[in-house]
Amino acid sequence: MLSIVKGPYLQRPTVNSMTIMWETSEPASSSVSVLVAERIHSGYQGNYKTPTEIRSTVSKEGYSTIHQVTVDHLNPSTIYFYQVLSENEQGSIESSPYPFKTAVQQGEPFSFTVTSETGGYSGFDRSNGQVNQNIFDQMLKYRPDFTLFVGDVVNDGDHYEDWEMYFFGPGKDLLVSTPCYNSLGNHEKNASLFYDFFAFDPPQNFYSFDYGDVHFICLDSTDFINPESYPNSSGIMSPGNAQYDFLVRDLQSTSARWKIVFFHYPPYVSGGYQVEDLRQLCPIFEQYGVDLVFNSHTIVYERSHPLRADKIDYDEGIVYIVAGGAGAMPEWLLPKRDWHTSQSLAVPHFIQVVVTTDHLMLRAIDHEGRLFDSLQLKKGMNGRRLFLG
Ligand SMILES: [Fe+2]
Repeated sequence: MLSIVKGPYLQRPTVNSMTIMWETSEPASSSVSVLVAERIHSGYQGNYKTPTEIRSTVSKEGYSTIHQVTVDHLNPSTIYFYQVLSENEQGSIESSPYPFKTAVQQGEPFSFTVTSETGGYSGFDRSNGQVNQNIFDQMLKYRPDFTLFVGDVVNDGDHYEDWEMYFFGPGKDLLVSTPCYNSLGNHEKNASLFYDFFAFDPPQNFYSFDYGDVHFICLDSTDFINPESYPNSSGIMSPGNAQYDFLVRDLQSTSARWKIVFFHYPPYVSGGYQVEDLRQLCPIFEQYGVDLVFNSHTIVYERSHPLRADKIDYDEGIVYIVAGGAGAMPEWLLPKRDWHTSQSLAVPHFIQVVVTTDHLMLRAIDHEGRLFDSLQLKKGMNGRRLFLG
């Protein structure tokens, strides 16, 4: 019997398109309808009626099990509904209609969430309180425009079952209406399934994208640092390395007001899993005005002091956030903080970020919805970043 076994889920939002993916139990056709829903404006009600009118349908040639369809000619910052359909000789399967929102344009505010480690690691499983499920549920309440995952979303990326058990299963309600961007962690093992399940720009393990006034860069730190050899890697972070050259070129070419970089291994964390070799990238971030860096790999929350040239610098430093949120391992914390640590807590959590043209507000929220840390950055007249605490 033909069935949908993953998703549908959303990828690569732009101001005029959305990519929809899903997996079926058997090879089948791929079709997505964009639906128009009438909005209820009467009285105190502000919801949408169940969508019935099909605006457009996009179908792909041939059969597949992992389906990827892009719908375009959409309007910016607009809510649509979509429905996926697959058919083969044995039957057909259709999803319910779900909402999505196209990307905002420059100058428009938006919000996103950040977490990682949904794969749990070291003894975490679905029976011990479902930490990852709680984090997905909390993030959904904040209705982010999209969400970043900073790696280790599975325990073993080569295990097909892991992707449903740790990521697509617990994340279903969020991912059906919230596009996601993932950065490779060591637990993904650079598995081919990562490349099958996501539609990030080639080469997929590192890429960049714009959303509103922010330029985002995702790096593959597992490609910079061999998991078997760190913290004394061979140090391939130099010109001539494809990813290094991409990073420099990408930062040189963007004119976005805000710049955010995310990758798995943390250059700064006091949790014992710090990968200091990655500090070789920090001078590039500093030179090209990166505003914020997200990392993971340690199942804790940490916010660094603003750092520049490997020193605390509240005038021009960059804040490094470790968002190892969807696991809980307090023993990963060293007995005391490191010199670069401003705030640290080992509690299941996620990060919510709200961005306007001139302000960036970051909130760290635990698995029960409690705010436990925040950060505010401001852009001055000349694009200079101000740390407001
Ligand atoms: Fe990791």
